[in-house]
Amino acid sequence: MNNESIKDMGETYVMNTYGRFPAAMVRGEGSRLFDADQKDYIDFLGGIAVTLFGHSYPPLVEVLQKQAGTLLHCSNYYWIEPQNQLARLLCTHSRFDKVFFCNSGAEANEGAIKLARKYSALKYGPGRHKILSMERSFHGRTLATLTATGQDHFHQDFLPLPLGFDYIPLNDMQALREKADDSVCAVMVEAIQGEGGVYALDVEVAKEMAAFCQERDILLIADEVQTGMGRTGELFAYQGLGIEPDIMTLAKALGGGVPIGAFLATDEVAGALKPGDHGSTFGGNPLASAAGVLVMQTLLQDGFMEKMRKTAQRFQTALQSLTLSCKMALAVRGRGLMLALELDREAKPVMKRLFEAGLLCSVAGEKGLRFLPALNLTDEEMDEGMNRLKQVLDTMGEE
Ligand SMILES: Cc1ncc(COP(=O)(O)O)c(C=O)c1O
Repeated sequence: MNNESIKDMGETYVMNTYGRFPAAMVRGEGSRLFDADQKDYIDFLGGIAVTLFGHSYPPLVEVLQKQAGTLLHCSNYYWIEPQNQLARLLCTHSRFDKVFFCNSGAEANEGAIKLARKYSALKYGPGRHKILSMERSFHGRTLATLTATGQDHFHQDFLPLPLGFDYIPLNDMQALREKADDSVCAVMVEAIQGEGGVYALDVEVAKEMAAFCQERDILLIADEVQTGMGRTGELFAYQGLGIEPDIMTLAKALGGGVPIGAFLATDEVAGALKPGDHGSTFGGNPLASAAGVLVMQTLLQDGFMEKMRKTAQRFQTALQSLTLSCKMALAVRGRGLMLALELDREAKPVMKRLFEAGLLCSVAGEKGLRFLPALNLTDEEMDEGMNRLKQVLDTMGEE
């Protein structure tokens, strides 16, 4: 099978919901991917912030092989040891006390919304159920999380949407004060908006927002589906903001490439859910949990995050230098290894040219290129990717 034949088969049988590049990735090694025509790509996208340690990371492969040969799945009717281990690792390295496991970011946020509503209903009675989220945010594709997503174009065609959601601009305390009436039970926010274009929640606003919410017992839900698991330079991005959310959601990199999501809460909040309130057939199954344990253990290894922060600094410096040498590169934004390079023009055609030149990235808003590389990206992989990036920017700048 080559790229063309795989594409043909996909077009015949797979629903047409993604705008795909004309390549089928068949193998990965570190931060390099190979397509079915044997072309190689430097991966600065990491499966959209998923493959935290690159592709086919040997310790992860080993853990998965061992777990698959021992127990793949058994259902949450029974205790699952790797699930407990992952929950303990997550709780002991965050401010949270309990974890619920699911399979994706949307599911994690859906669960967080349910938890916030139940907590509020038990404590304050009906009517206090509204979720405030940020304009330009992204929280998922299920109906509730789609509604929480503050981007209108995702909503069209799927009406009617669930009730009980409203939006405020990011970093606007005044708007929060105005909208936070007696019907609001939670505020949902990303530390850095990912899909929305790599726009950060301001540190001072975050603190003010957290204090305001705490005063009114409005739960603060940190959507760390994209920012969590070391991505921004801290294990979880809220830790860098100096705030204490009541609920945190995770997915993407939690399994290093194996689908798993989670929502975490303090004991006080988590206690609102009772047996039967929420569940998931696959949530935290032995295979996915074993992957999560390996991911957490790797992040916690002595020196891993220090090294990651140096890698991030080097990556940021390389992007900054492009803003000096390439006239179409204007500015860099983001934190850690969650970065965007703002261009002087529409980013999508540039992303396509980068793909052709063997560099994978995404777009951030209309004019930004978005980078979410593996945290263990080597200097050699980074340099090769940056060279490909510079060549394309230089060429397109001259056209
Ligand atoms: C911040 C955030 N929340 C939720 C989601 C949804 O995650 P999933 O695609 O796993 O459902 C995403 C996906 O991009 C995300 O970036």
